[in-house]
Amino acid sequence: MSAWQAVILAAGAGTRMRSTTPKVLHNVCGVPLINYVVSALTNAGLRTPIVVVPSQAEALYACLGDAADFVVQETPLGTGHALAGVQESLEADTKNVLVINGDCPFVSSDSINRLMECHEESQSQMSLMTAEDIDQEGFGRIIRDSFGKMSEIVEEFDATPEQLGIKEVNGGVYAFQIPSLWPHLASLKPSSKGEIYLTDMVACVYQAKGITSTVHVSDPHDILGVNTRVDLARAEAVMQNRIRHRVMVDGVTLIDPSTTYIDSGVRIGKDTVLYPNTHVIGTSIIGENCEIGPNTVVRNSVVEQGCKIVSSMIDGTTLGVGVDVGPFSNLRLGCHIGEGTHIGNYVEIKESVLGSDVKIGHFSYIGDADIGRKVNIGAGTVTANYDGYSKNLTTIEESAFIGSDTMLVAPVHIGKNATTGAGSVVTKDVAAGETVMGVPAKPEPRKPSIRTKQT
Ligand code: UD1
Ligand code: CA
Repeated sequence: MSAWQAVILAAGAGTRMRSTTPKVLHNVCGVPLINYVVSALTNAGLRTPIVVVPSQAEALYACLGDAADFVVQETPLGTGHALAGVQESLEADTKNVLVINGDCPFVSSDSINRLMECHEESQSQMSLMTAEDIDQEGFGRIIRDSFGKMSEIVEEFDATPEQLGIKEVNGGVYAFQIPSLWPHLASLKPSSKGEIYLTDMVACVYQAKGITSTVHVSDPHDILGVNTRVDLARAEAVMQNRIRHRVMVDGVTLIDPSTTYIDSGVRIGKDTVLYPNTHVIGTSIIGENCEIGPNTVVRNSVVEQGCKIVSSMIDGTTLGVGVDVGPFSNLRLGCHIGEGTHIGNYVEIKESVLGSDVKIGHFSYIGDADIGRKVNIGAGTVTANYDGYSKNLTTIEESAFIGSDTMLVAPVHIGKNATTGAGSVVTKDVAAGETVMGVPAKPEPRKPSIRTKQT
């Protein structure tokens, strides 16, 4: 294919969202709208896109980084005006420009490729994607002449009742041939709203006896746009259904798909079962043969194969093979939990590393701790990690036995095979093999010898 340049329009005021966040940065299934558009363009084989952004666009630069080049549209004077501003930024070899609205997250790379092929084969000056029977507001209607040739696009705002009845609508994805694009664009007059509409290019090319063509997408969802919060919720539901369908096809059981929420960035291994009201979100990766839920949130976490999680929150955490958690536990801020470890109910673990085969069966708080393998943590154990000024570390070496209701006042170190008695408050390090008890905890008192008793 001859040289193409993709342009994403993302400088609109987004007034209908009533938001301080740029519209294209609102999330659908955990990913900003514009990222879907960039991915579709990349998958279609296009080089780094140019994104037209408003003057205050720091959040957009931060979101897209090197994945895009940027052109600023100082004032949002319409989609046609937005495109006109990229002329100076195009590489000299560019023959065609692919333009896409930044608020259309469902456009597929296949449809983009079809549009590009059709545009080149038909040698059109302008081509665009259309769909029929879409039940969403705000689309431009495609007007055709008596020969069926596209002659004009009428925006919904300007349409007559008769034109509003037209089923074929503009999907907001266009291809333009260079060089005719620029003089046509420069000739466009402001609309009734005072904006330069890119869609007026159709009438312009038609009147100049140029060639226009359309590519139809069979699933109207593919061109859904997001203009309002209502559209955003709709897009979320459509995307969510597509993700659920994909993971089920890939071998994941969803007991109740309608109450299972999976973000776009998530990967789940086969034979894993997700129970109702489970949210697997962010960048989470779930291994094979896990059982997750009901009532569970797994966010930005790695869950290796064979884990079981019930009614719990797992956030920014890695669970090794065969870990079980819950019900009602909360693991957060970068915990690493070793293979085969058991975390029961009402346990909070924060920024801690646990070895393999650790047992924390019942209500406990473990914060800023490093716990070796085969340690047993009794019910009610608390790491007192915060002294009012800073967070302090608790280290517990392998196979130590922490008695129920132990307070570990950090910084503190518990040696290998050491034991703490029930209810002890440990303020000093405990040597390997040593047993401490009491408040404050002291080494176990020696039993009086027989001779001592006799005297
Ligand atoms: C637009 C089309 C409509 C089409 C629909 C498909 C126009 C005039 N209308 O309407 O025919 O059916 O998309 O989704 O194009 N933008 C800028 N600068 C501006 C104005 C907008 O960059 O000055 C950007 C927006 O950020 C947005 C995109 O262009 O990403 C489309 O603008 P929007 O206002 O959403 O157009 P629609 O009303 O949806
Ligand atoms: Ca739109």
